[in-house]
Amino acid sequence: MDLLTLKTWSSDDILATVEEGLSVKHHPERYKDGLTGQTLAMLFQKASTRTRCAFEVGIAQLGGQAVFLDWRTTNFALADIQDEAQVLSRYANVIMARMLKHKDLQSLAEGSEVPVINGCCDRYHPCQALGDLLTMLERQGTLEDVHVVYIGIWNNVCNSLVVACTKAGVRITVVTPEANGPSKDDALIQEARTSGLFAETLDLDTAIADADFVYTDTWIDMEFFMDPAYEAEKNRRVEVFSPYQINQSLLEKTDALVMHCLPAHKGYEVTSEVMAGERCIAIDQAENRMHIQKAILMRLVGPERAS
Ligand code: CP
Ligand code: NVA
Repeated sequence: MDLLTLKTWSSDDILATVEEGLSVKHHPERYKDGLTGQTLAMLFQKASTRTRCAFEVGIAQLGGQAVFLDWRTTNFALADIQDEAQVLSRYANVIMARMLKHKDLQSLAEGSEVPVINGCCDRYHPCQALGDLLTMLERQGTLEDVHVVYIGIWNNVCNSLVVACTKAGVRITVVTPEANGPSKDDALIQEARTSGLFAETLDLDTAIADADFVYTDTWIDMEFFMDPAYEAEKNRRVEVFSPYQINQSLLEKTDALVMHCLPAHKGYEVTSEVMAGERCIAIDQAENRMHIQKAILMRLVGPERAS
């Protein structure tokens, strides 16, 4: 079993992992020998704070170890990706990869002999979405009758959040005037539309009126944010998405808590004031990445893993 998109995970897989994440958080001592002697290989083509640290510390807390690989200092860059992945899987029990392109992640997974976890690519961020369900569960005490409104650009985070919510019974409304080109997944949207839990609108005020959570992410993915060649597109997006910023005046129209996967780009998709405010739970989300990733590792390579 891999965790590449979340689309192949059943509702039971998702709900059981989220429940286990909560158990990991409250009873870490029960899991301290869960992955004794096991090794997680972590391969990064892009930067990371949360994903790397949450996996590295998480597997150590389970009794295992992590090996960090920066793509640029490996031979992945010049060799056949499947050959290199197969070799890596002879050293490690599980691989987590943050790749620029989803098709390269798929290729890596085809070469690997061990489970592969998507640590965020251009299309999906499943670990984030599972962690976010954990954060919602912990705040609401249930995932029933929960409503999350995702505001801004339809991107990798939005894709995975839509899959996670609709499979977990959480109502999700998206207020997304545009999608990030590489993230487009028409089949995912069609599937969401059949769930009865998914809505699309540009009427922001109506959407947030009964929201439990409002969620946003960067309008420009990390690999482009500081890229001078992306400047014109960045400026265009700022123009398009500025009306969808989460700011204090928007929060006056709802009691919702504010979610953000981080890193936040203050002054763009969200203001500093909102990020520093009592209703922002982004730091809890970041902490929960570690608990959920421990649960994910247990599910994929733990002693009671599904065959
Ligand atoms: N949210 C998230 O994945 O953060 P990093 O990019 O820091 O890993
Ligand atoms: N959409 C963001 C998510 C970061 C965790 C990006 O890809 O940069």
